[in-house]
Amino acid sequence: MDRKEFLKSLGAGAALAVTISCLGSCLREEVDTVAIQDTNATNTENTGASSTILFSIDLNASEAAKLAVDGGYVVKNNVVVAKNLNGEFVAATVICSHDLIKKVTFKNNEYYCTEHGARFDQTGKGLNNDGKKGLKIYKTSLNGSILDILS
Ligand code: FES
Repeated sequence: MDRKEFLKSLGAGAALAVTISCLGSCLREEVDTVAIQDTNATNTENTGASSTILFSIDLNASEAAKLAVDGGYVVKNNVVVAKNLNGEFVAATVICSHDLIKKVTFKNNEYYCTEHGARFDQTGKGLNNDGKKGLKIYKTSLNGSILDILS
């Protein structure tokens, strides 16, 4: 008896139970993978929370020239990396939550979408109606001249 015949003999209800059982197992594997990734994560000095380094920027490299100035920003890997007016490095997604367009910038010490004008503070909180869905924020960690962007 092959697998198809076996499932037919069990009937539709039993086949559904087998399918659900397999799906549950697959989901558990996915959760386990995430847990393993967290185990390998790096600790940040700022929060003490575990995070994974998404990418790094060498502040001495030409790509980071705009980060030498307070209020300057660069966009790398779909992340807006900015140096705020206090000289701290902050980061957020470039994808605006209003219409999912990659037009978020850093302006006047807050995140600003040039498409319709959504505004977000540095914690990702929306500051106007177009920004009411908030903005995904990333952690940063500075080690010498290397700025890490963390999940
Ligand atoms: S897409 Fe950003 S404000 Fe509309």
